[in-house]
Amino acid sequence: MDFFRYQDGELYAESVPVKQLAQTYGTPLYIYSKATLLRHVQAFKEAFAGRDGLVCYAVKANSNLAILQLLSQQNIGFDIVSGGELARVIAAGADPHKVIFSGVGKTEEEIEMALEAGILCFNVESAMELDRINLVAGRMGKVAPISFRINPNVDAHTHPYISTGLKENKFGIPVESALAEYQRAAKMEHVEIVGLDFHIGSQLTEISPYIDAIKALKKLIRQLYAAGIKLHHLDIGGGLGVTYSVEAPPLPNELLNAAYAELEDLFDDVGTLQVVVEPGRSIVANAGIFVYKVEFTKDNLGKKFAIVDAGMNDNIRPSLYGAFMNIITVEENPEADLELYDVVGPVCETGDFQGKNRQLRVRPGDFLAMRGSGAYCSAMASQYNSRPKCAEVLVDGDKVHVIRERETYEDLWAKEKLLEQE
Ligand code: LLP
Repeated sequence: MDFFRYQDGELYAESVPVKQLAQTYGTPLYIYSKATLLRHVQAFKEAFAGRDGLVCYAVKANSNLAILQLLSQQNIGFDIVSGGELARVIAAGADPHKVIFSGVGKTEEEIEMALEAGILCFNVESAMELDRINLVAGRMGKVAPISFRINPNVDAHTHPYISTGLKENKFGIPVESALAEYQRAAKMEHVEIVGLDFHIGSQLTEISPYIDAIKALKKLIRQLYAAGIKLHHLDIGGGLGVTYSVEAPPLPNELLNAAYAELEDLFDDVGTLQVVVEPGRSIVANAGIFVYKVEFTKDNLGKKFAIVDAGMNDNIRPSLYGAFMNIITVEENPEADLELYDVVGPVCETGDFQGKNRQLRVRPGDFLAMRGSGAYCSAMASQYNSRPKCAEVLVDGDKVHVIRERETYEDLWAKEKLLEQE
């Protein structure tokens, strides 16, 4: 559920008309709803229902400082994948002791930075990474808390680019070599085993792949305990899907209840582990809309285009994944004809579209709003075609906060240098 609604034919973000925001702050514009964001966090917290759990928001989905600040005020943790994300969560005021560090390519500098900050755990994705963490921690006279990301080889039934739990994907270590790696880690002086984790993909709309993964890993956990290796937590990753069109993904409490039911016999045998989740999209996607203006309409021998002021540089999801994202008009336009449009941007690429074959009533000058744009949109934006990055605002009831200023042309080349003239 979200707080973007039509009232008297006009779209509102909480109590503020979206048209007013578009006119005041310009377009293209990302608009977030604080109440929606907090509601989604609450849904995860409540899903644990008094059980020992930790929500670690996946920063990559939307890393705006104000959003991270709001989330850290909810006392949740963070899942990061780079030194930059660690720097962001610290700058946003988060507690580093609730930070989990995922990713296949952690550099020595990033490992050092994370050890210095005192993070909760490294999710180790390879044998060489384990050696590197042990080495860096040793050099610093520290002990690094680690978990192995295990690749359970299950099909998440999602887009191939965002499926991560199959053996042909680069992520994690195979179940088959996990016991040996845990045993190697147990002998190391500068690492401490604290957990086990998996993340099998994103935009999952069913519970069954999670359950398949848990089933595959229960056996491994029993083997670990038999070998004297105890765990503090089990991290079941992120990946819970959202509704972009007709999907009906499970709710956080449905996912966690099913996970706990599957884990019951294991917990009876080895004791209860803390369960960690790493949701990104399910927290932010539907807390954001992306608003842009129709510059022109165009009819190429019957094929109609609505040319908008937002490009694939601002939101690459439709171009990169062929992702469907719902496009609605900011005002209902009963007087405009209902036509089938490709909604395309100004970038010089055929793949620059926000939506294809959309039934819309639009005229030049109208604003369109794309739903579900809080996750992986602004976060994946670039300046391609020398287009300054968009402004972002957060609405809280009738209050509006600018949480990212629109970039200027000078920002485009701020880090570039002209050659010295001879
Ligand atoms: N944990 C790990 C280790 C991850 O790699 C990811 C996402 C998450 C958690 C959060 O997953 P979520 O709950 O957001 O599904 N750019 C793509 C999505 C890439 C997801 C990458 N990993 C998109 O726009 O659909």
